[in-house]
Amino acid sequence: MARPDHTVFLRRSFSKMDQLATPFITGRRLSRALAQVVPRGTDGVVVELGAGTGVLAEPIRARLGPDTRYVALEIDEELVAHLRAHKPWLEVVQADVTDLDRILDDLGIDRVDAFVSTLPWAVFPQAMRLHVMSVIAQRLVPDGALSMIVTWMALPNRVRDLRTLLDGLFDEVVETATEWRNPPPARLFLCRRPHHNSLDEEDT
Ligand SMILES: C[S@@+](CC[C@H](N)C(=O)[O-])C[C@H]1O[C@@H](n2cnc3c(N)ncnc32)[C@H](O)[C@@H]1O
Repeated sequence: MARPDHTVFLRRSFSKMDQLATPFITGRRLSRALAQVVPRGTDGVVVELGAGTGVLAEPIRARLGPDTRYVALEIDEELVAHLRAHKPWLEVVQADVTDLDRILDDLGIDRVDAFVSTLPWAVFPQAMRLHVMSVIAQRLVPDGALSMIVTWMALPNRVRDLRTLLDGLFDEVVETATEWRNPPPARLFLCRRPHHNSLDEEDT
């Protein structure tokens, strides 16, 4: 049976383009590359941000250990319903990423081993980006990582601001080459060794 992901996402983009930012789901190649920040066989916690129809779910799942907790965050109610219907094994949370800190608390999650994001960061207001990115950096384990996609639809000045923000929060930010076959063409930012490990200080 053909997966309905493409049609569901395309239809949703007509009314929610501000949230979805593109009419296309992420292609297989970039989905696999985004998932690679998840350490193979990990038994920790993986959080996906902006799960959409769940195109990253299998590439991420393929890397998980038997006891990994994999939480998928998505704001849109129709996409959440689709996720729950098609990926019953996935822990789906319908919420706005702005509430990430509280959501993790509510889920009983202290630290996260990897965040995988296809959120439309470039369209978010700078204050929101700063807030959410700071939470991500604080919640990551010291050797944890964040992968995120930036498409060609993002305005260059917004991407520059985003890069500056990431450079302030992470010791290493790697920008990949553009994957031209992805609809739309896109590259990844791979961020490691978060500076803001304030939870570490509280733990000690
Ligand atoms: C570019 S789409 C990516 C969808 C899917 N992961 C993929 O790769 O095809 C961005 C996703 O982020 C979700 N999203 C946008 N703003 C959000 C927010 N504030 N909180 C949580 N999810 C959000 C959208 O509803 C959409 O599903």
